[in-house]
Amino acid sequence: MTNFPSAQYSKRIYIQEVVTRDGFQAESAFIPTEQKIALINRLSQAGYAKVEVTSFTSPKAIPMLADAEDVMKGIDRVPGVEYTVLIPNLRGAERALSVGVDEFNLVMSVSEAHNQANLKMSREDSFKGLVSVIKLAHENKTAVNISLSTSFGCPMSGITSLTELMHWVDRFASQGVRGITVCDTTGMANPAQVQSVSDTVQSKYPQLQWTLHFHNTRGMGLANTLAAVNSGIDRFDSSLGGLGGCPYAPGATGNICTEELVHMLDLMGFDTNMKIDALLECSKDLQMLVGRALPSQLLMAGKVDRVYQAPCQA
Ligand code: COA
Ligand code: ZN
Repeated sequence: MTNFPSAQYSKRIYIQEVVTRDGFQAESAFIPTEQKIALINRLSQAGYAKVEVTSFTSPKAIPMLADAEDVMKGIDRVPGVEYTVLIPNLRGAERALSVGVDEFNLVMSVSEAHNQANLKMSREDSFKGLVSVIKLAHENKTAVNISLSTSFGCPMSGITSLTELMHWVDRFASQGVRGITVCDTTGMANPAQVQSVSDTVQSKYPQLQWTLHFHNTRGMGLANTLAAVNSGIDRFDSSLGGLGGCPYAPGATGNICTEELVHMLDLMGFDTNMKIDALLECSKDLQMLVGRALPSQLLMAGKVDRVYQAPCQA
């Protein structure tokens, strides 16, 4: 694809796919295990740094992902791609260890209201439980990432302050985690807020692997991504076709769309390592799998190098 004329960036940006976790968790019809495995195997060939395969949550809370062990056991693991899973508690960590994963992606919310709605416990109880999960991970030489939901805003308690976010960042940083994902669970972040959060976390903890996780609920997803890139962030979660959303966050809708993210960054000259045409094929097929059109504008319009026939003059 032709680069944007003024492209001056060649920096590597790491793309992390979340469609089979954030995307599938809120679907109403169960997606068969073999279909999940087949999609992950296709995505594994597309150049991702990381794939969040599933979540080891309570099957009562997230029935769509009740087949987590079978999916993890069934996929072909491609060298160079990290396979991570979302984990809310010790029971989930033990299940993940039984099948082997490259990373534990632990989850809790910065907002008390969302933590109660999503995980049915206080933030303090989540933290206490996750500290023992981190210990278990380290004993088993498994990398740990912590995803902080509602880092920018919560649909039940409003905008999240930087002070409150940093309180939880500090507590997890002191536990020796490898990375932290700053999640905008319901698309409440704006680019100025993203710039400020990204600058602050990186300057305080430059050694941590930072990921930004945006939802496009209010149309600010890619603008927020660029604000983070400008601040030096080089890792993003995104979802094929823009599918996604937390079933326990009122009004939640899809993540930023992987093919739109990659298309934009590639045009600007960044090195995403991604195969955009393969992504578009996967996204087209995903529409068939979920039985409806996905919110991917790129799927509708095609890439910028798509050439249209001139309209008929008759
Ligand atoms: N995996 C499988 N089963 C689990 C489990 C896990 N990680 N954690 C708990 N359970 C089971 C328990 O064994 C128990 O089973 P039982 O009813 O047969 O005895 C049941 O779930 C309830 O356990 P409890 O500890 O009381 O959990 P809870 O009902 O308070 O729910 C969570 C707490 C964290 C397990 C649950 O809310 C959850 O999984 N949330 C995830 C939400 C999510 O993924 N949201 C989207 C991502 S942001
Ligand atoms: Zn999300």
